[in-house]
Amino acid sequence: MTKSGKKVISVIGLGVVGLTTAVGFALRGHRVIGIDIDPQKVRQINEKICPIYEEGLGKAIKNVEIIATTDHGQALDSDISFLCGGTPPKADGSIDLFYLEEPAKQLAEVLRMKKSYHLVVIRSTVVPGITEKVIIPILENSGEVGICINPEFLREGTALEDFVAPRRIVIGENDRRAGDILCNLYEGFGCPILRTDFKTAEMIKQASNAFLATRISFINEIGNTCKELGIDVYEVAKGMGYDERIGSEYLRAGIGFGGFCLPKDLTALVAKAKEVGSTPRILEEVLHLNREQPLRMLELLKRHIPSLKGKVIGILGLAFKPGTDDVRKTKAIDIVEALLDEGAQIKVYDPRAMPNFKKLFDNKIEYTSSDGVLTADAVLILTEWDEFNNLDYRNKIIIDGRRILKAKEARIYEGICW
Ligand SMILES: NC(=O)c1ccc[n+]([C@@H]2O[C@H](COP(=O)([O-])OP(=O)(O)OC[C@H]3O[C@@H](n4cnc5c(N)ncnc54)[C@H](O)[C@@H]3O)[C@@H](O)[C@H]2O)c1
Repeated sequence: MTKSGKKVISVIGLGVVGLTTAVGFALRGHRVIGIDIDPQKVRQINEKICPIYEEGLGKAIKNVEIIATTDHGQALDSDISFLCGGTPPKADGSIDLFYLEEPAKQLAEVLRMKKSYHLVVIRSTVVPGITEKVIIPILENSGEVGICINPEFLREGTALEDFVAPRRIVIGENDRRAGDILCNLYEGFGCPILRTDFKTAEMIKQASNAFLATRISFINEIGNTCKELGIDVYEVAKGMGYDERIGSEYLRAGIGFGGFCLPKDLTALVAKAKEVGSTPRILEEVLHLNREQPLRMLELLKRHIPSLKGKVIGILGLAFKPGTDDVRKTKAIDIVEALLDEGAQIKVYDPRAMPNFKKLFDNKIEYTSSDGVLTADAVLILTEWDEFNNLDYRNKIIIDGRRILKAKEARIYEGICW
């Protein structure tokens, strides 16, 4: 603890979640040590450069002091450690715990040298049972250690905003002392704090993401029908959203959900449900609909250009959502693959995500400007960046997966669900 009563916090794993947690607590006056195995990321953070594009985070990192290091031993100087490693899917959809287990083991080694109490907080998303069955056994011989699970609910694009002003904080605990310390750390955040056992906290996170994903597949399915009936699904969603039992969020019909979280959290929950003998029918169908939805862009395109072989197809937007450069599980991947299979030539533009997309599709497609994309035979819009509302779409064939209103001026305009 520092003299002012503020804590010393170590954050292990400085991805979107870890870096947001680190910057968020530093903004509240705590001393923060950030630990990551990636030396380039560590160097950038020490130079106050944000290693990812996240608007609020990029600005805030310049105003806080975070000591970044690749040395897990530095966690010894902290009171609380947040474990923020990635939890990607395995080939069978179940959760891969390597990036959570490894840092937990490294921390366990370090904590064996500590003489006083230390709180370890799991911030990563895991399926119910992981804290108890996997994390506790790793840490149990590491001296006086308390453990909590405290899932993160941030949305990429508004990550820091969501950390600073969360809608709720969930703390999973199995001893009062650990829960109290974490609860005190969140004093003044101005939102409900729900304290539960480990499994319940883990399930709250999983069920929340599964519900959001379900809403998206639901409105996409309604939207597909609306399109054939000549109904604007956005008007339908607006009408539904006024009902407070329904609410208006996550009812934007489009090409489906991508990103690091919703797809893999859903497959992990499906795998867990099956493991315990449950039949997750709704969740499996949500995934199925989400796989099919982006391919509707090609069906709509072919209504106007039946054979894509040799045609030049432009793509506006590669990031899975605006405000980020993240292309993990972005629907642009499925669409580019399908277009390449059809023999199309592809030109793409994204204001932020082109460097990351290049790592996936290097010289198979052309990276250009928005004007360059608009010279194509037809253009697909895949991310709702604001700047796409300032382009000149007249005389173009536009297939819009994200509802860019300006694009309606195109010579031929097809909205995916409207
Ligand atoms: N991305 C989101 O929007 C979001 C939102 C809520 C929850 N989550 C969950 O939070 C967790 C982290 O997500 P993310 O997107 O930040 O992941 P990420 O993969 O972007 O970041 C993980 C970081 O951990 C580092 N790392 C790996 N092994 C390490 C080790 N042994 N020691 C120290 N650092 C190590 C990596 O270099 C990387 O920087 C996941 O479980 C995810 O499901 C993510």
